[in-house]
Amino acid sequence: MKDIDLTQLLNKMTLEEKVAQLTQLATPFFKGSNDNGEITGPMKEMGISQSTIENTGSVLGASGALQTKAIQEQHLKDNRLGIPLLFMSDIVHGYETIFPIPLAMGCSWDLPLAEKSAEIAAKEAAVSGIHVTFAPMVDLVRDPRWGRVLETTGEDPYLNSEFSKAQIRGFQGSDLTNDLSRVAACVKHFAAYGAPEGGRDYNTVNMSEREMYEQYLPSYRSALEAGAEMVMSAFNTVDGIPATGNKHLMRNILRKEMGFEGVLISDWGAVKELIPHGVAEDEAEAAFKALQAGIDIEMMTTCYVDHVKDQIEKGMLEESLVDEAVFRILQLKNKLGLFENPYRGADEQLEKETVMSDAHRNVSYELATKSVVLLKNQHHVLPLKQNQKIALIGPFADSGDILGAWSWKGSKADAVTLKNGMLQRIDHSSLTVAKGSQVEASSIDDIAEAVEACKDADIVILALGEDSEMSGEAGSRTNIKLPEAQLNLFSHIKKTGKPIITVLFNGRPLDLTDIHDQSDAILEAWYPGTEGGAAIADVLFGNINPSGKLTMSFPYSSGQIPVYYNHFNTGRPKDAPDAQERYASQYLDSPNKPLYPFGYGLSYTTFSYENMKQSSEAMGAEDTLTFSIEVTNTGELVGDEVVQFYIQDVTGEVVRPLKELKDFKKISLNPGETKEVQFNVREEQLRYYHSDLRYMSDKGKFNAFIGSSSEEVLSLSFQLL
Ligand code: GLC
Repeated sequence: MKDIDLTQLLNKMTLEEKVAQLTQLATPFFKGSNDNGEITGPMKEMGISQSTIENTGSVLGASGALQTKAIQEQHLKDNRLGIPLLFMSDIVHGYETIFPIPLAMGCSWDLPLAEKSAEIAAKEAAVSGIHVTFAPMVDLVRDPRWGRVLETTGEDPYLNSEFSKAQIRGFQGSDLTNDLSRVAACVKHFAAYGAPEGGRDYNTVNMSEREMYEQYLPSYRSALEAGAEMVMSAFNTVDGIPATGNKHLMRNILRKEMGFEGVLISDWGAVKELIPHGVAEDEAEAAFKALQAGIDIEMMTTCYVDHVKDQIEKGMLEESLVDEAVFRILQLKNKLGLFENPYRGADEQLEKETVMSDAHRNVSYELATKSVVLLKNQHHVLPLKQNQKIALIGPFADSGDILGAWSWKGSKADAVTLKNGMLQRIDHSSLTVAKGSQVEASSIDDIAEAVEACKDADIVILALGEDSEMSGEAGSRTNIKLPEAQLNLFSHIKKTGKPIITVLFNGRPLDLTDIHDQSDAILEAWYPGTEGGAAIADVLFGNINPSGKLTMSFPYSSGQIPVYYNHFNTGRPKDAPDAQERYASQYLDSPNKPLYPFGYGLSYTTFSYENMKQSSEAMGAEDTLTFSIEVTNTGELVGDEVVQFYIQDVTGEVVRPLKELKDFKKISLNPGETKEVQFNVREEQLRYYHSDLRYMSDKGKFNAFIGSSSEEVLSLSFQLL
C-alpha cells in the first residue's frame, strides 16, 4: 500500500471537492462508459454538474476491465487532486458465472462452498475492475410475500450469521490490499429490512429493539466481526425513524456498540427518501439528517452536493462531519491500493480467461446440486429409472430464466436449461418436451400439445415456477401460489394419470397446497444459476443424491404468514396436553405448523437417529456439555445428511423460542453405515438479550434437540448451574 498521508490529502481538498467525494453516481454519468455517457430518464433531471462528476468519489454499476479503466483514466485527468474512483456493483450470487440464489445456497448448509462461491464471484468482479460488491445481503426473513427473501439465507439468526461470515471471507480474503482477486464487501441492508409489514417492499418495520438485537442484528454483527469493509443503510424505518436518517441506529448501535469503522453508504435514493418518509421537509434537511446519522456516501441522489456546503458555511453543520466521512472513503481507497494502482485488478486479457471459466461453472454446478431440496418423493418415483420415457413439460422445461434476481451480468442464454441438462444425460428419443404454458398465460393449443407429449411417457416432469421478475426487489406478492396458468396446466397433466414430478424454479417459499398432494415428487430447485439444468438433471437421474434442507419455512398459505420455526410457545399452545379444543392459539382453517418446516429436506436414502446421550445433566458457566447421537444410513444409497442441533431455554426473563439452532454437521454415510455425531454446548451459546438488553444466560433448565429438521428431533434436558 502506498505510504500516502491521507490527512494531508484531506486538508488539500476544497469543501466542494469533499462533499462531491460523498456522492455515488451510476455509470451513465461518466465519460468512457459503454452507455457513451448518455444520461437519460430520472437521472437526466438530476442536473448533476460537471464539477460533481469530476469530484465524485465512486461509481455504481460499472463493470468490465475496459470500461472501468476508461472511466478511471478520464476521471484521474479531470480530478484536481487525482483521487481515484471506487467502483461498486451488486455481485450478490456471482458475476457472470451465476451461482444459486442465496436462499438456495443457504439450503446447502455448506459454508466452505458458500465461501468458495463468493471467492469466485470476487475473482470475476475484481478482474473486471470492480472494487466493492454490495453483498452479502444478510437480512433475516420470515415473510415469503417479500420478493427479496431470495437474496438472503433464511429465517435463522445463527445460520444467517455463519453464511454471512463465509461470504465476507470469500469476497474479501485475508489480505484485501495485496490480493487483487478480492473485493471489499458491503453488508446490507442495515437494519431489519427483511421485516417489512405485510411483506411489502420498502414498507414500515415495526419491532422492539430487543427483537432486533435477538433476531435481526446477529448476521450483520458477524459480517463486521469477519471484517466487512462497508455497510449499506436500509430503506425502511427502524423504530419510527428511517434507517438512513437514524442517528441512534447508526452512531450508537452500528458505530459505537458494534464497533464499525468502515464506510456507510445509503441505499439507492434513500437519503432523499427521508422526505416522503416524512422526517425531512426538503433535500437540505434530508442531507442534514443523513450526515448527522453518519451516512458517508449518498447513493444516486444529490442532497449532499446541493446542500451540505451551504449548511456548513452557514454554521448549521460541522465540517468535521464531512471530514470524517471523506477520511473513511480515502482510507478504503488506500486499503484497496488505489492511490498506488487506480486500476487495481482490472485486466482485459485475464478477464477473458477468468470470467465464466469451466472451473467456475463447475463450482456453480456443485453448489446447485447441494441447494436443491427434495420435498416429496412418494413411492420412490425419484430417482428416475433407466430407459423410462420422460415427458418434460412446463414454462421452465427449457428456460434460461433460472438465474434469479441480481444476476445482471449473467447470461440466460448461457444457462444450462433443464431440457439441455437432461439431453446431456439421456438418449434424445426418451425425452419429449412441451412448454404447456407460459409462466402466467396458457392457451388451449399449448395445453393440448403438452397432454399429447405425455401420451407415451412413463413419467412426467413438470417444470413450474415464477419468472425472475416475480421476485427480487419490489417483487412483493400477496398470493404466493403458482400462477393460475400453471395450475391449470398441472390439472390437465394430472388427468393423464401419469406420475408427476414437480420441479420448482422460484425465489421464495410458495403456497404449494394446490399441487402438493397431486405431485408424486416435488423438487425445490430455486433459481439454481448458470449450471442449474445440469445439476437438476443429475439429481433427477440419481447421479446426485439430494441433501438440501430448507432454511425458510413453507407456509400452507399467505394467511399463515409469518410462520417460522423459532417461535414462542404462547400462553395457550395448541399442542399442550391440556390445550382447550377451541380456546388455544390456533386457526379455525389451517394448521399452525408450516407445510414444510425449517431444516426439512429428504434424501433418496433414509437415516435413523438413535441413542442421544449427554456427557452430564448439568453444566457450570465454565463447562462444556457434550451431546451425541448415532445416525445410520438405513437405505441403499450413499447420502449426505445435515444433522441439526437446537436448544430451548425453558424459562427466561423474557419468552424464549421453543427451539434455536445452535450448531449443525453435514455428514456423508454409506448404506448401513452409522456415525456418532457430537455437539458441544458452552454457556455463551445460552445467552440472550434480556429486557434491558443485557446479553447473558440464566441458570435453569434447558432442552437440547438433535434431528434431521426442526420438527424431527430427539431431545434431552440439562441444567445450567
Ligand atoms: C437497490 C437495492 C440494493 C442495491 C442498490 C444498488 O435499490 O436495495 O440492495 O445494492 O440498490 O444497486
